[in-house]
Amino acid sequence: MSNKKIMITGGRGMLGRQITDDFKGDHTIYIADIDDTDITDFNRFLKFTKEINPDIIIHAAAYTRVDGAETDSDFAYKLNALGSKNVAIAAEEVKAKIIYISTDYVFDGVSDKPYNEYDTPNPSSVYGRSKYAGEVFVRENSSDYIIARISWLYGLGGPSFLHTMNRLSVEGVHELKVVNDQIGNPTSTLAVSSKLKSLINLDKDLRGIFHLTCEGSASWYDLAVNFFKLRGLDQKVTPCASSEYPTPAKRPENSQLDKMNLRLNNLDPMPNWEDALKEFIDIEKW
Ligand SMILES: NC(=O)c1ccc[n+]([C@@H]2O[C@H](COP(=O)([O-])OP(=O)(O)OC[C@H]3O[C@@H](n4cnc5c(N)ncnc54)[C@H](OP(=O)(O)O)[C@@H]3O)[C@@H](O)[C@H]2O)c1
Repeated sequence: MSNKKIMITGGRGMLGRQITDDFKGDHTIYIADIDDTDITDFNRFLKFTKEINPDIIIHAAAYTRVDGAETDSDFAYKLNALGSKNVAIAAEEVKAKIIYISTDYVFDGVSDKPYNEYDTPNPSSVYGRSKYAGEVFVRENSSDYIIARISWLYGLGGPSFLHTMNRLSVEGVHELKVVNDQIGNPTSTLAVSSKLKSLINLDKDLRGIFHLTCEGSASWYDLAVNFFKLRGLDQKVTPCASSEYPTPAKRPENSQLDKMNLRLNNLDPMPNWEDALKEFIDIEKW
C-alpha cells in the first residue's frame, strides 16, 4: 500500500468527517467542502483540483435533504447532477480515480429481492433521480471510477435518524411511532469508511458499481427498537405504516442492496448492521 493524495468533496459532512479521520494515518487528505471550493463552479473547482493533483477523489458532497429536494429540485440537480459532472471531468483532467458516493434511492423499491449492482435503477424521488443523474455523468466523464451506493446512513456527530430518535427520547417524548413497512440496510459511516479504505489499500484496480451497505436488513422500527435497547433507554416505540406519515418524497419500500460485486471480486463482506450499530453506539458522545 502506498501513501496517496486523496481529496474528499463534502469532507466536512457526516461521511466525509469519518473518512478524513480514518484515512489520515495512511494517506494525505485534502478536504474540498463548501468553505474550500464549490463543486458547482467548474472553473474554481478545476483550479482547486489541479493545485492538489490528487490520486483519488472521494466525491461525497451532495444535496442530501430528500424531502427538500421535491420543492428545491433545481438546486438538488445543480449539486447532485451537474456538480458530480464537474467533479468527474476534473478528476479525469488530473488522471485521478473518482469514487462517487451514491444511494439506494436510485431504485424504486418495488422488487421483493435485494437490488444488486446489475439491476436497473428507476428512482422515484427528485433526490434519487438527481443522484442517479450524477452516476450517469460520472460514468460518461471518467475512465476510472467506482460508484459506491450506501443507504440509511448514520455516523458520529450526525445528523441521522438515530440522533433524532435519541433527542426525542431524551426530551421525554412518551411514545415514538416509527414506520415498519420500509425495509433497508442501516449503515454506519464507520463501516463505509473502513471498507473504502481497505478497497483503496488493496491497490487493486477496482472499477464499476459497488454496493457498500451493512449486511442484514431491518425496518426503521427495528432500527429504533435495537437502538434504544443497545443504548439502555427504556423508550416506548410503536410500529406504524408509512401512509400514517406522508412525506413529500416517495421512499422505496424495499431498499435492501445485495453486495454482489464484493462477492464476485472475492472481497470481504460488509459488517452486519447490528454489530455496526453497537460499535457506533459505544463510541458516539451522546
Ligand atoms: N445520509 C444518508 O442517509 C445517505 C444515504 C445514502 C447515500 N448518501 C450519500 O452519502 C454522501 C454523504 O452523505 P452525508 O450524509 O455525509 O452528507 P452531508 O453530511 O450532507 O455532507 C455533504 C457535505 O457536502 C457539502 N457541500 C454542499 N454543497 C457543496 C458544494 N457545492 N461544494 C462542496 N461541498 C458542498 C455540505 O456542506 P453544507 O452542509 O454546508 O451544505 C456537507 O458538508 C452523499 O453523497 C449522500 O448523497 C447519504
